[in-house]
Amino acid sequence: MPWPVDPQGPLARSIADLYWLMFAVAVIVLAIVVGALVVAGIRFRERPGHQARQYHGNNLLELISTVVPTLMVISFSVLSFQRLAYVNDVDSGAAMTIKAQGQQWVWNFQYPSEQRFQLTDKTYLSQQAELHIPAGQKVKIELSSKDVIHAFYVPKLGGQKDAVPGRDTVMWIQADRPGTYAGQCIEFCGTGHADMLISVVAQNPSDYDAWLTGALKDANRFSDPAVAKGKQLFTTLACAGCHTIQGLTNAKIGPDLTHIASQKTPIGGIAGLDVNEANLTKWISNAPSLKPGVVMPVFSNKAGGPLDDATIGSIVQFLLTLK
Ligand code: CUA
Repeated sequence: MPWPVDPQGPLARSIADLYWLMFAVAVIVLAIVVGALVVAGIRFRERPGHQARQYHGNNLLELISTVVPTLMVISFSVLSFQRLAYVNDVDSGAAMTIKAQGQQWVWNFQYPSEQRFQLTDKTYLSQQAELHIPAGQKVKIELSSKDVIHAFYVPKLGGQKDAVPGRDTVMWIQADRPGTYAGQCIEFCGTGHADMLISVVAQNPSDYDAWLTGALKDANRFSDPAVAKGKQLFTTLACAGCHTIQGLTNAKIGPDLTHIASQKTPIGGIAGLDVNEANLTKWISNAPSLKPGVVMPVFSNKAGGPLDDATIGSIVQFLLTLK
């Protein structure tokens, strides 16, 4: 269910509560006004035996219809300003600050310049479209834009805020529980506006750490010397004789590996053998043991022994860069 029916964090809830309060009062006012109109129309209408009378002014009614709406507008204003103070308080108690930059048509999320987010090349972890946050913690978001105006909006977690070129804006989000919360750019920003999606993944501390370890490993892979080594091994060893990697090798015997790292089907079509470091290592070490009859043999080194772990490891690291 969308916000405001299903707020999943304190910010979204504080806005939803006020929304429902105003909605309820509006419904009551509507019922009273329409009800009075209908009753008056029926009771005081001109009919046989009853003559409709003309009234000019009624002090009590006019007083009520002026004072009550005035009081309502004042109370709603006070409540809104109080709520606004809470919404705009981005700093107090924030566990971390994420820099979110909008560009046509993707969000770039830069994690804080903390040791735990640091990559081997001394830069810090960043991601596109997907943002991981710790569940139950307040996360400050600094918004900026590379080109036109965008707006960050994850309905279940909070309100929306514009990302304006040349001007930094801030907001905060918080998720009560672990989960994946969908959001999207909510300011029309060009052809790809509808595809400018946001996925906020809130996790428990242990899951967050596990995700971070994997994300750092992925991000570090490109600067990992093993990858360059693996690429060189791939082209010089038997791999290149069977597999195509577009732009690198061209062979038609085995499957095309151009996008092996993002392949959704398991290796060799074997259920459970998803593409990951461990399974690729197993497969390259001994494919026939996993899929009897497969064309891919067990490879040996020049001396006739099994391939060493470093060789297989480098090739696997290289393959994992092919997204
Ligand atoms: Cu960015 Cu719409």
